[in-house]
Amino acid sequence: MISKSFKTDELANYRLSIAPMMDCTDRHFRVLMRQITKKSLLYTEMIVAQALHFSKNRNKLLDFDEIEHPISIQLGGDNPNLLAEAAQMAQDWGYDEINLNIGCPSTKVKSGNFGACLMAKPKIVASCIEKMKKSCNIPITVKHRLGIDNLDSDDYLMQFVDNCSLAGADRFIIHARKAWLNGLNPKENRTIPPLQYERVENLKNNRPELIIELNGGINTINDCMKNLKVFDGVMVGRAAYSRPFVWRKIDSMIYGEQEKNLSRSKIIKKVIPFAQKHIEKDGRLWQVSKHIINLIENIPNAKILRQELSEKCQNQKADVAILKKIAQQLEDAGH
Ligand SMILES: Cc1cc2nc3c(=O)[nH]c(=O)nc-3n(C[C@H](O)[C@H](O)[C@H](O)COP(=O)(O)O)c2cc1C
Repeated sequence: MISKSFKTDELANYRLSIAPMMDCTDRHFRVLMRQITKKSLLYTEMIVAQALHFSKNRNKLLDFDEIEHPISIQLGGDNPNLLAEAAQMAQDWGYDEINLNIGCPSTKVKSGNFGACLMAKPKIVASCIEKMKKSCNIPITVKHRLGIDNLDSDDYLMQFVDNCSLAGADRFIIHARKAWLNGLNPKENRTIPPLQYERVENLKNNRPELIIELNGGINTINDCMKNLKVFDGVMVGRAAYSRPFVWRKIDSMIYGEQEKNLSRSKIIKKVIPFAQKHIEKDGRLWQVSKHIINLIENIPNAKILRQELSEKCQNQKADVAILKKIAQQLEDAGH
């Protein structure tokens, strides 16, 4: 049933990925996360195929730094032709994979007929995947929920996945809870419907040949290791964004790399040249620093340092001197 264009072990290389998150996983966060893990797959925020089609500034939407590899671009849309065009652009831009968003339950996305509501339209999804596959040579993966509203049985989920697989989907990332499209907002849809890992496990047992990645509520590297005994991969979202330093042992514990002595100060120092480049292109320091703030936690004086970083970096004219100073303070304190 699995598409033959990619070897299973090639696609299962990404044992851990950092989830696509709007307003969070921009290129600055990805550069920061890349200092913490060289091996994990990083995702962009969702980019809507239609927006890409009409955009006069595609570079802004698509550009990324070489160090962000391996990187998957997440696309949203329901128009097979626009998605195929976007897939081709993504390949030309150098992305390693393309992910189709069938999991977002927001009202705006629903009114555009894409995201999670497409779980009710498997034929459209299949046609999107087929066209995307034809337009590029990189893997097409699908991120979806266990179900939506009353379309939430194990049989329906299996049919949905089979359908995508026959159309050529190379990997499935399943947020292990359903979404209610009426009545719950996106945030509530990430907390109120219960996590049901056992249903994803059941799917994996019934479709061992498919590459199935678990997402939702994974908070520690130990959680990852436990779930990797069952699933081909794990995806971590909020826990990685809010506490990036907790994940510094991903490469050694999950990918068997030699452990590096990473510290918060070393990570910030590595991000500084990217922040400098961003400022030189008329960017603001705060766009980079708002992610760095989350590194500074679980140490004495964290609150004071975060406050200083936040206040000084939000100044429109702020330059990297403040980052250098904070990194030095952290280093002096042994962090
Ligand atoms: C702020 C925020 C934005 C998100 N944006 C997206 C998105 O653009 N595309 C997507 O597929 N999922 C998005 N998600 C969902 C996450 O990718 C992930 O599926 C969800 O948070 C569950 O994983 P977690 O428990 O590890 O956070 C978002 C989540 C958050 C918290």
